[in-house]
Amino acid sequence: MTPRSFLLTPQLSDYVRAASEPVDDVVADLVAETAAMAERGDAPSTMQIAPEQGAFMQLLTTALGARRAIEIGTFTGMSALCVARGLPLDGSLLCLDVNETWTAVARRYWERAGVASRIELRLGDALASLRGLPAAETFDLAFVDADKTGYPAYVEELYPRMTPNGVVLLDNTLRGGRVLEPVSDDDRVMAALNASLATDPRWETVLLPMADGLTMLRKR
Ligand SMILES: C[S@@+](CC[C@H](N)C(=O)[O-])C[C@H]1O[C@@H](n2cnc3c(N)ncnc32)[C@H](O)[C@@H]1O
Repeated sequence: MTPRSFLLTPQLSDYVRAASEPVDDVVADLVAETAAMAERGDAPSTMQIAPEQGAFMQLLTTALGARRAIEIGTFTGMSALCVARGLPLDGSLLCLDVNETWTAVARRYWERAGVASRIELRLGDALASLRGLPAAETFDLAFVDADKTGYPAYVEELYPRMTPNGVVLLDNTLRGGRVLEPVSDDDRVMAALNASLATDPRWETVLLPMADGLTMLRKR
């Protein structure tokens, strides 16, 4: 099944998709292969971002003129593929993930899309990888989509590494609506982070009701 926003009916979701940039064969095949992995029990089905979110992230990457980007949580590579497509030819995307099997699928699709030369994948715990980056390494765009309880630490680590006006995107910030009545640690951490970011003077913050909630932070 193609991932979609929990806020939309299936019909509205199809409508939104049809009214956005069309999905090409590479993205369609990546969605199908990821869905097949989920059916076999080889991957959680809901991890992949929705195609319309990918289209938005590609557009945003290009519109911002981002040259250096970082992703925390890559899975089978859909969001990275979209960001990489939005980068200039000499742009770069650093992807951080722990899972070798899922990211092997990602590598195949990045090759097929002709963006592999723009992407470096680093396997290992994302927080350790982030902390190990040289202080001078900065980013224009960041996408955070890994372990939810790690988000506050990722945001803190990213802040000094973002260029002025740099944008951080945080995925799943509505938690299927459960931020209103948290039922898990993931929900509680996200609700607390959303509340603190709304008044954090370092960031301009907007929570977009797209997909499962996509928060945009601009470094002031
Ligand atoms: C929701 S999926 C990412 C989906 C991806 N952005 C996409 O578009 O398909 C989350 C990913 O985060 C990775 N992950 C979870 N905890 C992590 C950690 N501590 N360090 C690095 N990666 C982690 C998982 O292996 C998984 O691939």
